[in-house]
Amino acid sequence: MILCRTIAELKNELIKIKQSSNDPTIGLVPTMGFLHEGHASLMRQSVAENTASVLSIFVNPMQFGPNEDFERYPRDEERDLAIAKENGIDIVFMPEVKEMYPVKPRTSVIVSQLTERLCGASRPGHFDGVGLVVSKLFHLVQPDRAYFGMKDAQQIAVIQQMTDDLNFPVEIIPCPIVREPDGLALSSRNVYLTAENRQQAVVLSQSLALAKQWANEPGITSEELVSRVKAKINEAGQAEIDYVEWLIYPSLEQPSWNEPIELEESKYILALAVKFGSTRLIDNTLFVPN
Ligand code: PAJ
Repeated sequence: MILCRTIAELKNELIKIKQSSNDPTIGLVPTMGFLHEGHASLMRQSVAENTASVLSIFVNPMQFGPNEDFERYPRDEERDLAIAKENGIDIVFMPEVKEMYPVKPRTSVIVSQLTERLCGASRPGHFDGVGLVVSKLFHLVQPDRAYFGMKDAQQIAVIQQMTDDLNFPVEIIPCPIVREPDGLALSSRNVYLTAENRQQAVVLSQSLALAKQWANEPGITSEELVSRVKAKINEAGQAEIDYVEWLIYPSLEQPSWNEPIELEESKYILALAVKFGSTRLIDNTLFVPN
């Protein structure tokens, strides 16, 4: 496994890979590090499907708001490198901020509409930062496939749209959400949770599992479903709901609110963001027609 801290080093290594075999394919797994089994599942899928896999580890300041956790975002380089190696990654690209942004960028990558709801509404500018850094990574690595987790379902919708709009020659591969045994979705931010927060946070995946049953009740409306999910989450005393939304996926349009849900008509997402103390967690589940 090779560690590249500069763009020049990365380009050199990519040239070697391109010369090493006939028609090699490159997989890219973009991350912000503090790696866990969710990231590892993306790495393994990339390694299985490509000649060579690049893992990027970069806490991207452009996607954090002024009052968000950029400074305290958890970091552990040594552990991350060990996990990357164990999972068969060929190249780790781990640049400093000044390598990615030597000057203040004046170019914005704004994906309209899809970024107006959910995390885009709660975190203004967040997806502009994601769009910018993922565009840069796509240009630098020129991957054939890029792997993203459905944990961040809106991020996948935004990146797929950007890829189509800008003709990036890359296939976006959505990967399933990896969870703890009790159902909590893995996240680098789970380390912020106090013991009590952590216990209560299981309500998120529980409420999504209940919603899977409720959505099948004849005549149930979007409004009723969302209100039951909110009530379930509020049973956890420390939970503070940011949003619970029922939308069509991946367009993120709102289905009719007061009509019975038609599960066979569209693919839907139930997405939520909930704070436990100062830690904001997100989770979601898809409803796919049979
Ligand atoms: P980060 O939060 O580090 O996540 C990197 C990738 O891992 C994302 O595609 C995310 O969806 C996926 N992931 C996180 N938790 C997961 C889980 N429990 N199961 C499956 N996949 C999971 O997302 C980002 O970084 C950044 O926004 C980035 C795309 C790297 C741009 O800076």
